[in-house]
Amino acid sequence: MTRYKEPKYRTILEAKENELEILKEKSVNSQWKPAYHIHPQFGLINDPNGLAYFNGEFHVFYQWYPFDATHGMKHWAHVKSDNLVNWERLPVALVPVEDYESHGAYSGASLEVDGKLYMYYTGNIKYSAEERSANQCLAIMDRDGTITKYENNPLIEGVPEGYTGHVRDPKVFEKDGTYYMLLGAQKTDLTGAIIVYESENAIDWSFKGELNMNLEFPESVYMLECPDYFELDGKDVLVFSPQGLQPEGHFYHNVYNVIYVLGKLDIEGLDFKVESYEEIDNGFDFYAPQTFAGKNGERLLFAWAGSGEVEYPSDKEDWAHCLSIPRQLGIAGGKLVQKPAEELRLLRKDSESGELMLDAGSKEIENSANQYELEMYLDGGEAGRFGLELFASETEGLLIEFDSKHQTVSVNRENFDAAFGGEYGFVRSASLNSGTVKIQVFVDRSIAEVFINDGEAVFTARVFPGEGSTGIRLFSDGKISCRYNKYELAQGISI
Ligand code: FRU
Repeated sequence: MTRYKEPKYRTILEAKENELEILKEKSVNSQWKPAYHIHPQFGLINDPNGLAYFNGEFHVFYQWYPFDATHGMKHWAHVKSDNLVNWERLPVALVPVEDYESHGAYSGASLEVDGKLYMYYTGNIKYSAEERSANQCLAIMDRDGTITKYENNPLIEGVPEGYTGHVRDPKVFEKDGTYYMLLGAQKTDLTGAIIVYESENAIDWSFKGELNMNLEFPESVYMLECPDYFELDGKDVLVFSPQGLQPEGHFYHNVYNVIYVLGKLDIEGLDFKVESYEEIDNGFDFYAPQTFAGKNGERLLFAWAGSGEVEYPSDKEDWAHCLSIPRQLGIAGGKLVQKPAEELRLLRKDSESGELMLDAGSKEIENSANQYELEMYLDGGEAGRFGLELFASETEGLLIEFDSKHQTVSVNRENFDAAFGGEYGFVRSASLNSGTVKIQVFVDRSIAEVFINDGEAVFTARVFPGEGSTGIRLFSDGKISCRYNKYELAQGISI
């Protein structure tokens, strides 16, 4: 079969003269470029890849298309850090120049094997706009940071029988001396699945079969992307990104959504006994998360703070998206909960604390730049509806609203000149079981990550405010009181 060629399938090595400099210049002055969220200097970022704490440093790789804000030839870009919050940009880690990755080095995860970092990824192959195949590949990072593609790539050529060309995103782990690779897959009947390969040496793989889960997916689910697996507090956890879920109550309102499943994995028997499952993040822009073990073995997560198929205002500046902040996972009340990673405290600069009382109406908290962390304890008193407005001005603002009667919290991003994504709705919501409210928000130029009650609900929201929209406003329809700490946050990554 002949390979499919299109302008968007070229690598950074094929950049025209000055092309990259021009791109950089065009996006560098954007008012929306995050200061401490991992983002591309230009081009489009999507999934976090190969996450690792390796040889004393944190490594984050990510899917990157350099030439504009669309999905084209994917590279693995690379940043590293010794504290999880100050990131250094490194040369592109994987440039897809080989035949076995002719249309992109797609997502994957890494694992330390014999003192080296094994970075598994998918070589994407296209024969036409619709027809594709996939190879599973390996690159190895030595302790000195040198990255080399495995000489006998691909490790797995093509896809097993019964599956379409959509087989990708390897996650490898070791259990009782055997290595297992999970892959997101689509069956020939066009439903989604997770398939498993096994290996004795992390290099030679054989197909084991499909993972059985006692989860009834609606027929509309046509693909599962980016499987992840880990153990946490005595539970086995699977995370994946199913495509084709339809909205249901508070859940699944994005074009693609992410769920976690808690239960018991019997990998030998290809069986995952599901005890519970739920959407991970209640917000708008959260997809393809990946987890890894931090310095002390804690389970950390980064996600793509973006959504496929949606046009973002920064697309016009030829850059798109960022990753989430690092989040630490835990299990509380039978649920998987996310909290900001402890290390984010290292970014704190000037702080300001205060207490506010409010009758029906609103009050401002002084603020002049959208680069802060806000921690607030709210006592809703007799109020029916109350909350916070961020990125606020006369005409703009991101609303975080609590409704005591219905015990819900919602986030509304409709009120911006550059409002976007409305085809999937401007509001996201979640139920709240507890009465007291703690809000912790990380605001960074064009993103807010909102953690309610230490992870009872978490909303990731990109917004693209006008220059003067930096206000923080408390509002209520009745008597409320709050205390808060606000921290300016330092720059964590170069623009
Ligand atoms: C998820 C995804 C992965 C794929 C990658 C390509 O967002 O579609 O399944 O490997 O992005 O960039």
